[in-house]
Amino acid sequence: MTEKAQRIIVVTGGSRGIGRAICQRLAAAESRIYFNYFAGDRAAEEAAAAETIEIVAKAGGQAKGLWANVAVAAEVTAFFDAIMDEVGRVDVLVNNAGITRDALLARMKEADWDAVLSVDLKGPFLCSQVATRIMAKQHGGRIINISSIVGAMGNIGQANYVAAKAGLIGLTKTTAREYASRNVTVNAVAPGFIDTAMTAVLPEKVKTAMLASIPLGRMGSPEDVAEAVAFLASDAAAYITGQVLHVNGGMYM
Ligand code: NAI
Repeated sequence: MTEKAQRIIVVTGGSRGIGRAICQRLAAAESRIYFNYFAGDRAAEEAAAAETIEIVAKAGGQAKGLWANVAVAAEVTAFFDAIMDEVGRVDVLVNNAGITRDALLARMKEADWDAVLSVDLKGPFLCSQVATRIMAKQHGGRIINISSIVGAMGNIGQANYVAAKAGLIGLTKTTAREYASRNVTVNAVAPGFIDTAMTAVLPEKVKTAMLASIPLGRMGSPEDVAEAVAFLASDAAAYITGQVLHVNGGMYM
């Protein structure tokens, strides 16, 4: 066991984007962050992970990044085993890792449906299953699932992603009900249109149309999302469970 004061935080997909901002925001002297990452270009992802570790160190924390695919049960188990071997507990899990494979329903390939559902929904299921076992024994913990505005609204060209993100809200509420008696809270954060690599690939026309539909008149930043996660992970949110916190500049109300 670690010192009681040390808070162990696990963030999936922490090498860049929203996951990195969450690692940075949760960085503190009294916490230790473990994140994983996985992508096609391993070298680029490892360089990005090293940058996250540096950013966390600058913010006064300590982070470790591990290459692990959230969609593969054995890799999830190995990831958590490595953490448990080192520090023996998990206080916060942020299920953030996600991918998109956009296409209109009529043209969506089965492989793209499977890939997105595996990472964006099965991934949080596998990680939550392992984490809740640990947190139940500890009689406490926080799980924060990064869903999406589209999980509530639907979105053209994203049947797979929307199904996964809406499913994640269901997983959030069920896990919240099942683990409330163990003092584990489970909530979702649903970001709107956030400036990361995921949205950088969208055509200008789509970006312009999206911007026009945001009452606050700008894209969100990864830091905007990280603030909501930090709140749900804090003592101030102890009585909040099974909720979806929308961070979208008013794009969906
Ligand atoms: P990103 O593409 O910048 O980063 C994705 C991260 O997930 C990377 O660290 C990558 O290594 C990791 N990852 C991908 N597949 C993985 C796998 N199989 N196993 C482990 N790690 C994996 O994405 P971004 O924009 O930072 O998104 C983070 C989360 O926020 C995702 O769940 C996304 O769906 C969600 N989100 C993003 C929005 C946006 O506008 N960018 C809006 C709403 C939700």
